[in-house]
Amino acid sequence: MIDLSTTYLGLNLKNPLVVAASPLSKNIDKARKLEEAGISAIVMHSLFEEQIIHESLELDHYLTRGTDSSAEALSYFPDSDKYMVGPEKYLKQVADLKKALNIPVIGSLNGVSKGGWTNYAKQIQDAGADALELNLYYIPTDFDLTAQELENAQVELVAEVKSAISIPLAVKLSPFVTALPNHARRIIEAGANGLVLFNRFYQPDFNLSELKVVHSLDLSTSADLRLPLRWISILYGKVNADFALTSGVHNSNDVLKSMMAGAKVSMMASELLWGATPAPQRIAEILTHIQEWMEKHEYQSIKQMQGSMSQKSVNEPAAFERANYMNILNSFRDTP
Ligand SMILES: Cc1cc2nc3c(=O)[nH]c(=O)nc-3n(C[C@H](O)[C@H](O)[C@H](O)COP(=O)(O)O)c2cc1C
Repeated sequence: MIDLSTTYLGLNLKNPLVVAASPLSKNIDKARKLEEAGISAIVMHSLFEEQIIHESLELDHYLTRGTDSSAEALSYFPDSDKYMVGPEKYLKQVADLKKALNIPVIGSLNGVSKGGWTNYAKQIQDAGADALELNLYYIPTDFDLTAQELENAQVELVAEVKSAISIPLAVKLSPFVTALPNHARRIIEAGANGLVLFNRFYQPDFNLSELKVVHSLDLSTSADLRLPLRWISILYGKVNADFALTSGVHNSNDVLKSMMAGAKVSMMASELLWGATPAPQRIAEILTHIQEWMEKHEYQSIKQMQGSMSQKSVNEPAAFERANYMNILNSFRDTP
């Protein structure tokens, strides 16, 4: 009997296949179908710092106007059932998903600065989330901001969010960090329990006929797996974190590779949103293929596989480093 179970952020999961933060958590019925198909946990789409700040400014304006007018103003006071601002909807979605599903539900906050908005970490916890993912998506365009200042700000934000909650915290990082091992270690020392590698950055493009900057959401491919695969391999066993791999997980081989690098879970978005096969069917297929591969290669459990190809476990640790880069460039000349 093959054991697909894993643990992530202290949660016991029946297998390593997790839905990445995406619109897949927006519809309860669809989420239930993903659970029935075998997914082991779901990360919700993010609640954004900007969304919270915007809503709270609006609420502030509304309440101030109400109290300033007269006693009659009390009648303006919003009925809590009807007054559903964005973040409130989010919290309701956490509670609804928790009610509908048996698998763990991981909330997601997305922001960059410390401040009142981080109170929502606690509110997401109180709404029933089993863990929280904090996404630190940021594009540094300020020429006066140094890498050290930016990293310090992220570490402080992680500490602030962690101090507000008692559920486990994972931090979703960008691959564009000057010295990732050090930063990863500091994020964990600040209180994070897990690292989600990596945030997928959507790059703007130019439309040449309209001379406009355009944005499009491109589907990842399995080739995108290489970047998180390398970094999880390097960090595994050296940073005391549970790793989740996201970006480029499309098939059973991608999941197996994630595990061997040292991930506890593989998170999928693109394949489930836009793959040729409907998401529930695809999940079932991938789980079957993982089991078949493990049987054929005489693996009894996923846990036995985790980290087996990490940098500290392989015979050739330099394969992850600069030496590999030189080898690759040299080997190209030899290719017919
Ligand atoms: C349509 C869409 C919406 C997403 N929304 C979020 C989000 O709200 N928060 C977040 O942290 N990541 C979000 N992501 C990123 C995914 O969680 C995931 O990290 C990324 O898509 C890479 O995984 P993939 O290669 O399986 O697509 C989104 C991705 C897609 C495609």
